[in-house]
Amino acid sequence: MRSITLVAGARPNFPKVAPILRALQRRPDAFSPCLVHTDQHYDWQMSAVFFRDLGLPEPDRHLGVGSGSQAVQTAKILIAFEEALLERRPDLVLVVGDATSTLACALCAAKLNIPVAHVEAGLRSLDRAMPEEINRIVTDAISDLLFTTSAEADANLLREGFPPDKVHRVGNVMIDSLFYALETADRSPILSTLGVQPKGYALATLHRVSNVDHPETLRGILSALDDIQRHIPLVFPIHPRTRKNLTAFGLQDQVSAMSNAILTEPMGYLDSIKLQKEARLVITDSGGLQEETTALGVPCLTVRENTERPETISVGTNTLVGISPEVIVREAMRVLEGSYKKGRIPDLWDGRAAERIVEILKKF
Ligand code: UD1
Repeated sequence: MRSITLVAGARPNFPKVAPILRALQRRPDAFSPCLVHTDQHYDWQMSAVFFRDLGLPEPDRHLGVGSGSQAVQTAKILIAFEEALLERRPDLVLVVGDATSTLACALCAAKLNIPVAHVEAGLRSLDRAMPEEINRIVTDAISDLLFTTSAEADANLLREGFPPDKVHRVGNVMIDSLFYALETADRSPILSTLGVQPKGYALATLHRVSNVDHPETLRGILSALDDIQRHIPLVFPIHPRTRKNLTAFGLQDQVSAMSNAILTEPMGYLDSIKLQKEARLVITDSGGLQEETTALGVPCLTVRENTERPETISVGTNTLVGISPEVIVREAMRVLEGSYKKGRIPDLWDGRAAERIVEILKKF
């Protein structure tokens, strides 16, 4: 019997952990899983609604760390997670994604000589100004099992000198959750709640530090959204980081003045999937949305200069448009006029990544 501690802390962790926990729970003879929530995200809309929507059980343990600078958050998680690990001494710690919680928990386990598995290993934006890129590099460096989503991720790891037998391409657990939830999400009443029609609106989300922590950048992106909502209703769920900065930078009025924009709280998982599926166009800086739109075949414009998920561009429906308002608007118009590429779903994004992970964990 293997005792495995799974870590979740920030919003994008929840859909990644859910299918793995379910797959482990289907093998009670082989695994004893335990779910730890660091509480990096703690609001209902950032955390609890995802537990409900994904059918995740209440975590076995909360670390209660809350918000803070990168250093404060990392330090608090290190201290609290060490205590949890010393009490349970699992055989393996499994971390997902690239959040601060991912790195802090991997580091804590590695220092206690507990093997670490990293799900979504090998992604690289090659932009070390992103906190997530540092988290990816360090987490991979101290992990014993590297589960990847794409051939590009494998190639990144091999180029960095990781031994091939540590690297396992299993597909994308984010898409496991998407396929699992699709039917239920289809019944979400969110479109009528917001008063929009299928394929009759664009969906925008923004939360990257590089976009929303700089007043000029944020102002420019908002001006692009303003132009776009003159052509099509724009659903704009606002992340807490973004909301805080809109107030701090005095940009709230610019947002409120968009008469064809529907401003909302961050969406829960099912509503988010439904809104993406029926959108004519998604404009985002989220990694998860880049992947979900590719799996759903919905045009996605990514408001960043780089992406660690290149297969969403080469194979899927994603295009990098950068942060220039003119380019964002021009590309959005191209989509609205109907001249946009059709993508396909990348290999192994088939809803069975978690099963493959569990098969490998059995042998580890
Ligand atoms: C984190 C992840 C990012 C992920 C994103 C999804 C890191 C380094 N970044 O960024 O990769 O895409 O989550 O949301 O881990 N806040 C609340 N309520 C909450 C959580 C946060 O109000 O439940 C506010 C706080 O003011 C906090 C700010 O949002 O300071 C930012 O939260 P934080 O967890 O530091 O980073 P995210 O920007 O959410």
